[in-house]
Amino acid sequence: MRPPLLLAPLAWLLLVQAKDDTKAEDNLLVLTVATKETEGFRRFKRSAQFFNYKIQALGLGEDWSVDRGSTGGGQKVRLLKKALEKHADHEDLVILFIDSYDVVFASGPRELLRKFRQAKSQVVFSAEELIYPDRRLEAKYPTVSDGKRFLGSGGFIGYAPNLSTLVAEWEGQDSDSDQLFYTKIFLDPEKREQINITLDHRCRIFQNLDGALVLGDFAKAFTG
Ligand SMILES: *[C@@H]1O[C@H](CO)[C@@H](O)[C@H](O)[C@H]1NC(C)=O
Ligand SMILES: *[C@@H]1O[C@H](CO)[C@@H](O)[C@H](O)[C@H]1NC(C)=O
Repeated sequence: MRPPLLLAPLAWLLLVQAKDDTKAEDNLLVLTVATKETEGFRRFKRSAQFFNYKIQALGLGEDWSVDRGSTGGGQKVRLLKKALEKHADHEDLVILFIDSYDVVFASGPRELLRKFRQAKSQVVFSAEELIYPDRRLEAKYPTVSDGKRFLGSGGFIGYAPNLSTLVAEWEGQDSDSDQLFYTKIFLDPEKREQINITLDHRCRIFQNLDGALVLGDFAKAFTG
């Protein structure tokens, strides 16, 4: 029996609004890491199909090699780096890299791409209210007048060449923190500018629903 959906730990939602035409963009690829076909992953896939996203899951069948208690996520960077090798020269290709176990799409590719372009950066990361995993880095973060200040690695979108540059220097372990890796790049002003990274401070693209139970009804649409 499926557990009640209201308990689903839906952490991220790609923001809703208008109805999209499908077929919007062939220049968008959604990459996610899923080592297992969990119920959460199937829900993610249903929402992707609903809006006609092309998705590619990396790591299926691989062990999720992160010990409980470690910050983890390095495996995701390793798999992304590998997957981006063949896209590094595709200047027009936009890639969304997103967690899938606790995510659903709430609008289609066209709206996603429109909001991405409005952000006027080559790479846009989701933003979080709390700094994690290294709170000592707080002082290095640019201040924001409005919205969430800190980088979250649960979702980001960018042009393929810039994303390739972003992950090129990854040499960490699978058990290292992906969020710390991206945070350090973002907090280096030179790299931030060169790769052209910004955060989705106002959650125009990535909406964190942690604790927002009311959205259970919304998510029900994708439980099949
Ligand atoms: C990333 O974005 C900037 C444009 O803002 C560009 O100058 C840079 O060369 C891009 N490419 C890479 C690989 O970082
Ligand atoms: C990214 O590039 C645009 C122009 O291409 C510029 O306006 C913006 O300030 C850059 N952002 C960062 C974080 O460097």
